[in-house]
Amino acid sequence: MTLFSGAAAELWMRWVHYIFGILWIGHLYYYNFSQTPYMAEADAAAKSSLMQKLQPRTMFWFRWGAMFTFLSGWAMIGHKLGMGVPLASAWGTIILTGGILGTLMFLNVWLIIWPRNKIMIESAVRVAKGEAAIPGVADLGARAAIGSRTNTLLSIPMLFFMGSASHLPLTLSPEKSLVPYWCTFAIISGLIQLNAAKGKMGPMQKLGGTIHFGILLTLVLYFAMEYLAG
Ligand code: HEM
Repeated sequence: MTLFSGAAAELWMRWVHYIFGILWIGHLYYYNFSQTPYMAEADAAAKSSLMQKLQPRTMFWFRWGAMFTFLSGWAMIGHKLGMGVPLASAWGTIILTGGILGTLMFLNVWLIIWPRNKIMIESAVRVAKGEAAIPGVADLGARAAIGSRTNTLLSIPMLFFMGSASHLPLTLSPEKSLVPYWCTFAIISGLIQLNAAKGKMGPMQKLGGTIHFGILLTLVLYFAMEYLAG
């Protein structure tokens, strides 16, 4: 049966990848498009209820969605390499660009967003019991919000390159080195990641600014790839 043959292995990985990718990015967009504006208007009781009862549930699917998207994505890259597809190809350059952006987003979920949300949830539970809030919880929330906005920003080029790997007829020039492109990519993504860990909201304060910045970043990375390596 074709579906269970070795040739269909990649399809199984893709299927898993799509389902967990939707689970993850669906929650990310829910937080940024709906929950954040809701929290800005909600009264204290509604905010407390959301943090205690809803946030643990959404955070569960969000972080495990991220985990299995990440694992299935790298499994597919491993599978392609095993089939002899070189990384220093147009496919490899494009999928590594999307995959590294996705990996930075995965790290932001597990190292910035979730650890802080865990404390914010615990603090809301304590306050509801009449105890004091955990000190510094507002600063933790602000950093988690920057991490979350950074992921919304990165999701735009990440999905562009993810979808382009097999569908964009870009050819790389055999006489050009990939080093200038990868240096440009490392500087740009490194600065954005540094900002997520230590910096400010800047243009990501508003959702519209985040989306415009994401589209600009996509174009910059695309043209860097086309002109430096194509
Ligand atoms: C976390 C790191 C990630 C890695 C390493 C990764 C890796 C991959 C790989 C290797 C492919 C196959 C590319 C091809 O040959 O067409 C792929 C496809 C895809 N990925 Fe990811 N991915 C990651 C994150 C994500 C996320 C967060 C999403 C969000 C939904 C996503 C959505 C997709 C989609 C829609 C495709 C299909 C592209 C196509 O068939 O044209 N990926 N990914």
